Amino acid sequence: MALEERPDAKLDRGVIFLGPPGSGKGTQAKELAKAYGIPHLSTGDMLREHVGKATTLGLQAKPIMERGELVPDSLVLKMIAERIERPDCSHGFVLDGFPRTVTQARYLGELLKQHGYKAPFVIHLVLGSSVLLRRLTGRRTCKVCGEIYNIYDRPPKVEGICDKDGGELFHRPDDREDVIAERLQAYDKQTSPLVEYYRRLGALHDIDGAKSVPEVKAQMFQVAAEMREAR
Ligand code: AP5
Repeated sequence: MALEERPDAKLDRGVIFLGPPGSGKGTQAKELAKAYGIPHLSTGDMLREHVGKATTLGLQAKPIMERGELVPDSLVLKMIAERIERPDCSHGFVLDGFPRTVTQARYLGELLKQHGYKAPFVIHLVLGSSVLLRRLTGRRTCKVCGEIYNIYDRPPKVEGICDKDGGELFHRPDDREDVIAERLQAYDKQTSPLVEYYRRLGALHDIDGAKSVPEVKAQMFQVAAEMREAR
């Protein structure tokens, strides 16, 4: 039976999306969170909200994000801990863009242990860098609901307007070619070691991220269903 027909289905654990910029983490993480009725926690979205509101954290993060570098662990860890500790995460949550360094991964492991959560599993979206540039330069996101489009492969029905709520679509400032190059380097240097980190823990599930959105989604739901049965 399809997951959508089983509103009682619970995940009861954290899911981590790991993959380079543009690999489809946000696109797929939103779908999984919606299907299981659990929060989608994107550190990128949280940081962009801080930047938009010009909070102290936002003012510190803005120039770093504009350069395509990672925001220091010291700023990100407190932000994510406060979010995971909220009661709506007690039946599971989807992490998109966190952890991104081995320090963040170790911190997350300790935090989940302290709160009695099961160990998370990791959806690793695997794909080469040649497709990523087209995906990122073509991305447009709804200002209202966060729906993600692509002007080349997943265009909205009306240019610049969200199909779902008529919201204005925006192009992220870090989706410029020079910044994308920096972000890809940051991924290779600081985040890709997490692939081996989670593989050694037996938590990693590789999915071919170069396939179409529906194909990746089907594989992701398959992994989630297996993890739910395996508890
Ligand atoms: P963040 O917002 O997390 O960006 P990212 O990791 O670079 O990932 P993206 O959001 O760019 O891509 P995605 O994989 O979600 O792809 P999407 O689904 O949108 O981080 C931004 C910045 O914040 C960082 O650079 C850093 O400065 C800071 N930051 C955030 N978290 C941090 C942390 N933990 N520590 C320190 N700093 C942190 O898809 C992309 C496009 O492709 C879309 O147009 C989509 O429609 C299309 N697409 C998706 N899947 C497919 C498919 N299968 N086929 C064809 N097209 C597809």
